[in-house]
Amino acid sequence: MLLEVKNLNIHFKSDRSDTPIHAVRDLSFSLKQGEMLGVVGESGSGKSITNLALMGLLPDSAIVTAETAKFNGVDLLNLKERQWLNIRGREVAMIFQDPMTALNPFLSIQYQLMETIQTHLKLSKKDALDRCIELLSLVGIPSPKDRLKSYPFELSGGMAQRVMIAMAISTNPKLLIADEPTTALDVTIQKQILDLIKMLQEKNNMSVILVTHDLGVVSQYSENLQVMYAGEVVESGTTYDLITHPRHPYTHALLGSRPGALVDNIRRAPKTALPSISGIVPAFHQRPIGCQFNPRCEFVTPECKQAPIPLTLVEPRHREYRCIHPIAVEAIK
Ligand SMILES: Nc1ncnc2c1ncn2[C@@H]1O[C@H](COP(=O)(O)OP(=O)(O)O)[C@@H](O)[C@H]1O
Ligand code: SF4
Ligand SMILES: [Mg+2]
Repeated sequence: MLLEVKNLNIHFKSDRSDTPIHAVRDLSFSLKQGEMLGVVGESGSGKSITNLALMGLLPDSAIVTAETAKFNGVDLLNLKERQWLNIRGREVAMIFQDPMTALNPFLSIQYQLMETIQTHLKLSKKDALDRCIELLSLVGIPSPKDRLKSYPFELSGGMAQRVMIAMAISTNPKLLIADEPTTALDVTIQKQILDLIKMLQEKNNMSVILVTHDLGVVSQYSENLQVMYAGEVVESGTTYDLITHPRHPYTHALLGSRPGALVDNIRRAPKTALPSISGIVPAFHQRPIGCQFNPRCEFVTPECKQAPIPLTLVEPRHREYRCIHPIAVEAIK
């Protein structure tokens, strides 16, 4: 396994109370070399803080604990800042939602790309420049040599995201974390960027964590899927199993809230799916008792409101869901 996470918990110290706020709860997953994992969930479900925890980038107010959090055999929870420098931006790279805020508007693309490359790779200036051109052409930027002289504001959103991807993969990272990489882009460009990430994943045998709030988007690209809600994994398994036979009402509702056909060659969610999910993800200091989804769930019973709901594991394909009244497979065929 390239990445192994077992029972990851994130707490934030807060001036609201003496007890820290429990933001992410008992999150476990693993990722093989070359695999793409999709992570989906509405805003506020804890997707970004989980990734930031794995990159050692959470603020000091965060308390991160886990039974295991290993990347390539290295324990991520006990790294010194010096050791992080060998991993972050080198073996694990991250791209974010808005490339324009991640790029410095006052520095040319060449300057920013060269800086990243020369920080991590021991290359001469000429070799680093050649690598910049090679990378821009790999991510599909036309006339890469000329483009290097551009400034971020001269690029479209899609082109800027391609530059971010070029920077992220410049060191041939083993893992790319793409946190909502296309949310700021229009639909056509969104597909181009995701196709590019998929191509690079296959070409470099890179692992990818693709985070999005759009189940339809992720389902076309990732082999496995993890659905998060209010800081917990509520369902995980193969993408195919989850989107053809969702067991958790939240996954089911996410499928139902997508208009139109879901995924090419994968069966459309049933007509019984909810048209949209009413209500919002609870704030971490206002969590309901019992199942976190209970205030919004159409299948709720008094039992759901009594105690935290454990994950149920179904083999052989390692399907997990956190619900005591899972949707029957027959009901959603
Ligand atoms: N630095 C922080 N201090 C306290 N709480 C935080 C901090 N960062 C994030 N949170 C809490 O974690 C929640 C989940 O954040 P996030 O991971 O960004 O969600 P997502 O990426 O799924 O939209 C936020 O809604 C916020 O309540
Ligand atoms: S445990 Fe109950 S409230 Fe929670 S998702 Fe399942 S049916 Fe809905
Ligand atoms: Mg986020």
